[in-house]
Amino acid sequence: MTFHNKVIYQIYPKSFYDSNGDGLGDLRGIIQKVPYIASLGVDMVWFNPFYLSPQKDNGYDISDYYRVDPAMGSMEEVEELIAALAAEDIGVMFDMVLNHVSTEHEWFQRALAGEKEYQDFFYLRPAQADGSLPTNWESKFGGPAWAPFGDTDLYYLHLYDVSQADLNWHNPRVRQELFKVVNFWKEKGVRGFRFDVLNVIGKAQELVDAAPGQSDKLLYTDTERVHSWVQEMHRETFGDLPDAITVGEMSSTTIANSVAYTQPARQELDMVFSFHHLKVDYDRGEKWSLVPFRFMELKQILTDWAVGIQQGGGWQASFWNNHDQPRALNRFGDVERYRVESATMLAAAIHLTRGTPYIYMGEEIGMVDPVYSSMESYVDVETHNAYAALRERGLSEAEALQVVASKARDNSRTPMQWDASAAAGFSSGQPWLQPTSQAEINVAAEEAGGRILPFYRQLVDLRHRMPLISEGSYEPFALEHEQVYGFVREHEGQRLLVACNFYGRETELEIPADFTAGRVLIGNYEQAPALTQKLTLRPYETLALLVG
Ligand code: NOJ
Repeated sequence: MTFHNKVIYQIYPKSFYDSNGDGLGDLRGIIQKVPYIASLGVDMVWFNPFYLSPQKDNGYDISDYYRVDPAMGSMEEVEELIAALAAEDIGVMFDMVLNHVSTEHEWFQRALAGEKEYQDFFYLRPAQADGSLPTNWESKFGGPAWAPFGDTDLYYLHLYDVSQADLNWHNPRVRQELFKVVNFWKEKGVRGFRFDVLNVIGKAQELVDAAPGQSDKLLYTDTERVHSWVQEMHRETFGDLPDAITVGEMSSTTIANSVAYTQPARQELDMVFSFHHLKVDYDRGEKWSLVPFRFMELKQILTDWAVGIQQGGGWQASFWNNHDQPRALNRFGDVERYRVESATMLAAAIHLTRGTPYIYMGEEIGMVDPVYSSMESYVDVETHNAYAALRERGLSEAEALQVVASKARDNSRTPMQWDASAAAGFSSGQPWLQPTSQAEINVAAEEAGGRILPFYRQLVDLRHRMPLISEGSYEPFALEHEQVYGFVREHEGQRLLVACNFYGRETELEIPADFTAGRVLIGNYEQAPALTQKLTLRPYETLALLVG
């Protein structure tokens, strides 16, 4: 497949580079940094939304799909950006937020003004007979998923923030309008589409309460309707582009559904983002908790997904980080003692597996979560809601802050650290979110002799050059090992054994005899170890051994 050997870089525009000193990243800033992006060797850049938005959820609350938020730049600059990247042979992937619009969007405003036609764009429902909300569903950002619809006796559904009204995909007009949006950007030369929370678009027409003990998510996630609407979107929008790359962000999805979304013959999507591997540091499913990550569970999930998706003939996106996740380095590595080793080990686990790797800006220089001492430093709506809920549950300010500090989405949204200066070389003004680790961690330092950035460049290059990595089969290895995550890739007589030590202490790993006669394709220590059947892996060491 054409996209199997591609690597995608994710940019959070608000935090990449500020060209005009207002403290917010902008499109002009990204254009200025195209040489850096090109130096990574990546094939496509996914941009988080930069459309017109009241910014209640950092751009995922879109009030006009066809306009650029003036704080980010102009349509001319979008076109210039697409062209500047194309000149480096880099495609762009735009974020399509089609499950909801901002309540400031014209459609919602016209619905509020009483236009029936637009009221049918949303899920508007009356209270239940006993006066309770239309259903007992929860918003994913906390609180109920329903809010009063103006001064009517109806409520509108919002699975996310109260300012993000869910769109009624049952209405063919809505689908037409949304496909028009995709086609508008396609006409501008966009070849990558990332569909926000796509698997929750398929709510039933008749909405019902979740039964006691049942998760409301089951009622609206991955329904059969989603598949047929995605197929329709494929037909009506990107399906005729041979070079399109599409990825659906799938909330709480399953392997079976992910296979169905991505089997080429079904003509839905190229790949999915799933998140189960990023919940292994939740306490019984609760994100806002503080527990160490469960390594054996992480391994099992990575393995089950890689094997299951392969068996079904599907494809997955391979990633640790994005703009919604705290930095993986803080979660699964050791930022104090082994930052370089753990950053590179995590990179190898993602880039050498079967799937399309995504690099989230800053990951390639080993950026870490910021250290803030008060809630005032955080901006994200979800974080503030969670803090309030934790306080209500009886946690002290300090305890609640500690939980928030480990899970906040702002952790990954801090500005890209270009140099060691006060604003990290991101802005000549006051950054909208404060960086705190730029003194040691920044692009300039990495370029001058760091080990993480070159390692990433090498991984990107290997995927481009070696069909073994882009196309090879995946087989679990050392599943029982309590410190090492491993797998074997195989393709046309070549085999690659990848071993990743997830801990800061040495460990022994028994490898098959034929690999002792192989060579180290890539490793994250300067001196490769002797290849004996009993290998000693050093703290956070990763090794990829090639035979054939
Ligand atoms: C997923 C996006 O990644 C996240 O940032 C956003 O808040 C929700 N979808 C709602 O659009």
